Amino acid sequence: MDRNLALEMVRVTERAALAAARWNGKGNKVAADQAAVDAMRSAFDSLAIRGRVVIGEGERDEAPMLYIGEEVGRWGDEDPEVDIALDPLEGTNLCAGGKPGALAVIATAPRGKLLHAPDSYMFKIACGPEGRGLISLAKSVTENLQLLAEAKRCDVSDLNVAILERPRHEDIVDEVRSSGAMVTLFTDGDVNFALATCKRDSGIDLFVSKGGAPEGVLAAVAMQCLGGDFQGQMAWRNETEKERALGMGFAAEDLDRVFSLQELAGADVMFSATGVTGGPMLRGVDFFGGGARSHSLVLRSTTGTVRFLETIHDFERRPFFPAPSE
Ligand code: FBP
Repeated sequence: MDRNLALEMVRVTERAALAAARWNGKGNKVAADQAAVDAMRSAFDSLAIRGRVVIGEGERDEAPMLYIGEEVGRWGDEDPEVDIALDPLEGTNLCAGGKPGALAVIATAPRGKLLHAPDSYMFKIACGPEGRGLISLAKSVTENLQLLAEAKRCDVSDLNVAILERPRHEDIVDEVRSSGAMVTLFTDGDVNFALATCKRDSGIDLFVSKGGAPEGVLAAVAMQCLGGDFQGQMAWRNETEKERALGMGFAAEDLDRVFSLQELAGADVMFSATGVTGGPMLRGVDFFGGGARSHSLVLRSTTGTVRFLETIHDFERRPFFPAPSE
């Protein structure tokens, strides 16, 4: 895929992040999400792609914009055909509460290279490059920690595991603590914590949790670019969820399958995220008189290039959305 696309994608996540950040700490996650969706949708129009949303805001009947199957981009005759996974506001509660870790995210891939994951839970595990090929959902958390400690030439007690703070994870937390490793509990936004395993100074070595499957695919794209590892297995809550997924075309043989990184996100993928509130990977949006500053991460799997972009937005030359009234 055209390498310039990665740098075009960041415009899309920047617009979504700026729009959502207007709602930082204002206690209204619905308005924050809507602002991000609207901004992302309109920013897509200038992207030179023939894009199709495969991970989006929901199905056509429940999401008026950025729904699964929606065509986005400029759709010029020469533009590449691209599958898109997106989350205009990953961490709606974080944004509404003014808490760290909210992001605007998109990922792109050549047609057919992303898992079309339904909007259910996925059991996920992620680690940085040292553990690539070693970690597995088929192994216990304790085994994974032992293998990772060997690969990192440290003790299990030196490792720190990020876990989404939910009652359903009590057994994982107990097992990690019994193994001697540290636990970092976070309340929302697991894409950030999967990525953090690849950032040396983040202090996070492993991520294990059941969270959104769409977020799993987004994280897998980033891990493919960063050289880390990731596996995912759908974690159905009931038969209705399974039936719904099958109805959407999810293969019966994949219902209980453990997906490898390659199966979640194939080759030649790209990823862009812009911080809405500051977090382990990125700073959030800072507004100042007449403009704002944003921080983004742009990744390409083909080259492994990692770009951290700081952007100054001048609202006097390029007007932006008015501040929300409430
Ligand atoms: P939203 O941005 O949709 O609010 O999702 C945030 C999130 O924390 C994800 O990062 C995570 O995968 C999921 O919610 C966990 O879901 P739940 O809150 O149902 O446990």
